[in-house]
Amino acid sequence: MKRFIYPSSIETARALTLHLIKLLNDEPEKVFHIAFSGGSTPALMFDVWANEYSNITPWERIKVWWVDERCVRPENSESNYGMMRMLLLDVVPIPHSNIFRIMGENKPADEAVRYSHLVRKNLPVENDMPVFDIVLLGAGNDGHTSSIFPGQEHLLTSSEVYEATYNPNSGQSRIALTGQPIINAEKVIFLIMGKEKADVVSEICMSGDTGPAAYVAHHAREVELFLDQSAAAKLK
Ligand code: 6PG
Repeated sequence: MKRFIYPSSIETARALTLHLIKLLNDEPEKVFHIAFSGGSTPALMFDVWANEYSNITPWERIKVWWVDERCVRPENSESNYGMMRMLLLDVVPIPHSNIFRIMGENKPADEAVRYSHLVRKNLPVENDMPVFDIVLLGAGNDGHTSSIFPGQEHLLTSSEVYEATYNPNSGQSRIALTGQPIINAEKVIFLIMGKEKADVVSEICMSGDTGPAAYVAHHAREVELFLDQSAAAKLK
């Protein structure tokens, strides 16, 4: 597991954006299937990407997928697609056909099946699971990642690619990328910022699988952590 730690959230957001652009430029012929998380943390990175680095990004080679979605309409302020669209996708010249949103307005169980098929159809498959080039994750201070919360560990070993689930704190329905396709990705990158995340960051970096975020971090092929100083505060 590689850790990259920066003094502030904006520097972390810039560093991760430039890192993604470098990965794209290192393989100039390749189309990258990237699954993005939502929540509040990536908002700064989407903003920085749109405003500072759009002109050096090969947008036509990025296929945009989602790690998870809240089961709301796209115009709802809770929508992960809506947030990324507003801050990034509507601002940059990415072809519309490269964007594959989870339809949060559909019936969750049906949408999980539809989206799983769409991912399986478009991505290479190994170990009977799709292989994303990059899965970009966040983590909650309760140890959740994607929308796999503590108590929902069956989602870590599910044979489905996406499943309908819910946030046990709010009851909100969610659709989540499950554990096996996360750990089957070429690369898993966590973006975690803020002092309230210091405990989950140290859990991820310790040896045990103490929660969903730590489980995927310890089982994935290649893991990178992009942290600001305050999220990294409890690391030795
Ligand atoms: C979501 C996410 C989720 C997120 C963590 C961290 O829809 O909420 O995709 O997995 O990454 O909950 O969220 P914050 O960045 O808001 O703390």
